[in-house]
Amino acid sequence: MAARKLECVKVEKKGGIAWVWLNRPEKRNAMSPQLHFEMDETLRDLETDPETRVVVIAGAGGYFSAGQDLKEFFRANEKNPAGRKAAAEAANRWRWERLYKYDKPTIAMIEGYCVGGAFMQLCAVDFAIAAEDTVFSLSEVNWGILPGALVSKVVSDTILPRHALYYACLGEPFDGREAERIGLINFAVPRKQLVDRTIELAKKLMAKSPAVLRATKQAVRNVRTMDFDQSYDYLAAKGQAIKVGDTEDSYNTGLKQFLDEKSYKPTFEPFALKNAPKKECRRRSSGLPPGNRSWRKQRAVTPTPTLPLQGGGGILPRCRRRVPSPLEGEGQGGGCAPSGAKGRFRGAPGQPRATVRMSTARTPWPFGRTIIGLISMSASQVRWSR
Ligand code: COA
Repeated sequence: MAARKLECVKVEKKGGIAWVWLNRPEKRNAMSPQLHFEMDETLRDLETDPETRVVVIAGAGGYFSAGQDLKEFFRANEKNPAGRKAAAEAANRWRWERLYKYDKPTIAMIEGYCVGGAFMQLCAVDFAIAAEDTVFSLSEVNWGILPGALVSKVVSDTILPRHALYYACLGEPFDGREAERIGLINFAVPRKQLVDRTIELAKKLMAKSPAVLRATKQAVRNVRTMDFDQSYDYLAAKGQAIKVGDTEDSYNTGLKQFLDEKSYKPTFEPFALKNAPKKECRRRSSGLPPGNRSWRKQRAVTPTPTLPLQGGGGILPRCRRRVPSPLEGEGQGGGCAPSGAKGRFRGAPGQPRATVRMSTARTPWPFGRTIIGLISMSASQVRWSR
């Protein structure tokens, strides 16, 4: 079947990450039937797409989603049971069945609004990172319905019953910090760090054995509804099943690299993958994602000048030591540069500040280790941040 032309969804692939943007920003990414059909097909295709190792669900224009489209999903379908059924099936399939059981790791990157029906995908994904100033709301009670489809169920399964009852019954908005406190999301971060923290998490996931990661997430989810005997059996069988088709031969490779080669310590990091994302991909993934507004803003400025970046300075994220000489950077924008070395920094003029991700690099200073970090750059100085 020919691929559907996407109008309400946008997909951008970069460095192993597929960014899937709900794309109706003028409607705060409220989910119409068409959006549901497009999301359902998009996620189906990405699950077997060889380029995609992690899927990030986000909302264009700085809004995650204002929930179901009250006009197009509800009112327009009141007298059209067939249309309503088809839309509801697609809506539930991608927001729950697909995402909850997805073969690849999934992350929700949340900002702006996350309302009502959007809690389904929020609870279905494996990980959720939100901007601190995101507005979350189980608004259904405020406009005359209960949190339907599976919203009441998945929210009750994700957070403690007291919190679920409070927010479902009162329909009070709450922010990202509160969402983190009640366990609805993994982390709340300042909005300007949201993209970088999402990429950071995606890269950590891409460094793990895909077969082991897939089995682990399925196991953690599935044992919740099993008793102890069932769990013993299931986990033993699942552990064996990993070995079938594991291109990394993870168990043997992991042991060999630790016991024989002594090249890593499992307490702190994963073994080195044979099929790791290519270096070039890693470097490419280090920019802001294309769906991000600031990326679009930068790309809109052409031609983009190449500006020199020299020296090293600031605080190294891992060893947290100050590096003597301050970095001297000229210009603003996004790009990547090897740490501390003379490099070229590609940026766009006229932006007050931008964040760039460093590619993996050996420091020229006597720390003797590989570092991966972020730098923020303003007109005349660069500092490290995480
Ligand atoms: N369904 C349909 N349309 C919606 C919508 C939704 N869930 N959420 C926003 N929109 C539309 C608005 O009607 C408006 O359309 P218009 O420009 O044609 O008038 C547009 O999106 C912008 O919304 P607006 O209310 O002007 O933006 P805002 O930033 O001031 O407020 C919200 C955004 C999300 C706080 C507000 O629109 C709202 O409360 N929406 C309802 C959310 C909801 O209850 N969803 C639960 C569904 S299960």
